[in-house]
Amino acid sequence: MRKVTLLFTLLYISCSAQQTPAKPTGLVVTKAMVVSAREEASKIGVEIMKKGGNAFDAMVGTELALAVAFPFAGNIGGGGFMVYRKANGEVGSLDYREKAPLAATKDMFLDKDGNVIKGKSTETALAIGVPGTVAGVFAVHKKLGTLPMSEILKLVIALAEKGVVVTQKQEKNLKNYHESIVKINGEQTLLAGNFKENDTIKYSALAKTLKRIQKNGRNEFYKGETAKILVDYLQKKGGIITLEDLAKYEAKWRKPLQFTYKDLKITSMAPPSSGGICLAQILKMIEPYDLSKLGHNSDASIQIIVEAERRAYADRSQYLGDPDFVKVPTKALMDSSYLKDRMSTFNPEKASLSSEIKEGKITYNESTETTHYSIVDQFGNAVAATTTLNDAYGSKYYCDELGFFLNNEMDDFSAKPGSPNMFGLVGNEANSIAPQKRMLSSMTPTIVEKDGKLFMVVGTPGGSTIITSVLQTILNVYEYNLSMQEAVNAPRFHHQWLPDLITFEPDTFDTKTIEKLKSKNYLINEKSTPIIGKVDAILVLPNKNLEGGADFRGDDKAAGF
Ligand code: DON
Repeated sequence: MRKVTLLFTLLYISCSAQQTPAKPTGLVVTKAMVVSAREEASKIGVEIMKKGGNAFDAMVGTELALAVAFPFAGNIGGGGFMVYRKANGEVGSLDYREKAPLAATKDMFLDKDGNVIKGKSTETALAIGVPGTVAGVFAVHKKLGTLPMSEILKLVIALAEKGVVVTQKQEKNLKNYHESIVKINGEQTLLAGNFKENDTIKYSALAKTLKRIQKNGRNEFYKGETAKILVDYLQKKGGIITLEDLAKYEAKWRKPLQFTYKDLKITSMAPPSSGGICLAQILKMIEPYDLSKLGHNSDASIQIIVEAERRAYADRSQYLGDPDFVKVPTKALMDSSYLKDRMSTFNPEKASLSSEIKEGKITYNESTETTHYSIVDQFGNAVAATTTLNDAYGSKYYCDELGFFLNNEMDDFSAKPGSPNMFGLVGNEANSIAPQKRMLSSMTPTIVEKDGKLFMVVGTPGGSTIITSVLQTILNVYEYNLSMQEAVNAPRFHHQWLPDLITFEPDTFDTKTIEKLKSKNYLINEKSTPIIGKVDAILVLPNKNLEGGADFRGDDKAAGF
């Protein structure tokens, strides 16, 4: 009899420890999937895989299709990061981040008294970093692709020539940025047209540029006619990028960052993105707490996550920069006893205070101008890639002849120690400007494994909120048992050390929860409640099917077969 009771007890324990996974609520497919900011781009990625291409071919197609269909952030005038995991478990990552031009100087955004000149790092041609996207897609294709590049480009060129239908959200965006686009490019520039929902925009100039790239390869952009037109244009606008800058640009394969959280193994981007290190620090700091028991978005859960975020972002500001220029103490920052010690000042009764560093005036940027896509192919390869122009339509400088926007990524450098950038992030010497240096990023393309198998592919735009959105999406599935789509939909919050504020998405959090946090001295960002992130993710379900999580905050869409 006692034996039977024991058996039942053991059975009960093992059942309750093994939560039933949430029922999928997003698109479910059996073989391959792309989730990106536009249906047109997801579909091109899928079409490539249907033709027998792999996730890397699909990455090239999706990245370039986003440059056509989503000029808000998709680009060939910007840069990004890509993390991959092959079906055999091998991982890697590519850095195709922009670089500071050779003529860049440490003080280039300061006046003679050493103060930051407002707008110089965001709204002038000096804001533009040397673009990395074309080098990026060619590097991926060379190392990992299988279909001919010209075949992939053919689909993208066809999309540009046929044109892309304007969505309601896009109409709104184009209206919002109309004035600044016209101010720089004049009334005749393509996107100054007062486009309305359901209009079709044809991207003929971009199609021509892509055709030249199709014919002449990567160097068309960096050394060919395109390079010459681009440099001519930039110099006329007061920019400092030269032919030498373009010719010298290389995308770089970097060792991705790997760490564990409970029984998950996480692969994410190493510097010059801060994403992987900060994500690792936050997850390690919260690991000892039973978040699942504390409840999703409960005040107790939020408090623990916020305190870990505060500490990680403080380290980010001090220590992180381009590893080709500064020594980044990655190991020390991810050391478990260091992180345990870091959390030892956490008092559940009362908010910690962010350091006394004088906080500059910041306004949260309310939109999401970067873009992330996730891909899993029919062979089991996975790609997470985040790409950006930085701000909406980047610097707004649009080369009419070439048909694309240029980034304003130089603002991601720390123009002056302690002086916040457009995301309110402060930095230091490690992220100061130097010729050829890459500006620190928050982009966090991430791949999660469970029990040695592919589990999730995830990432998002959102500037400084990227890291915390990726974090919450992983926790939403793993700790709080939400489906992939629910995890993406769930309301998000954010803390980044400075300013010492918790930001919540608008009208989504229980006022009681917020009141409880206030009673513990947490400062809440009451003024700015932007939408946070636009997560596009894929979850591998227990039966090996794929569930997409496409963010309703944008026009994002999952496609697959
Ligand atoms: O690399 C970075 O961290 C930023 N340039 C990302 C910008 C971004 O996500 C824009 N969206 N809000």
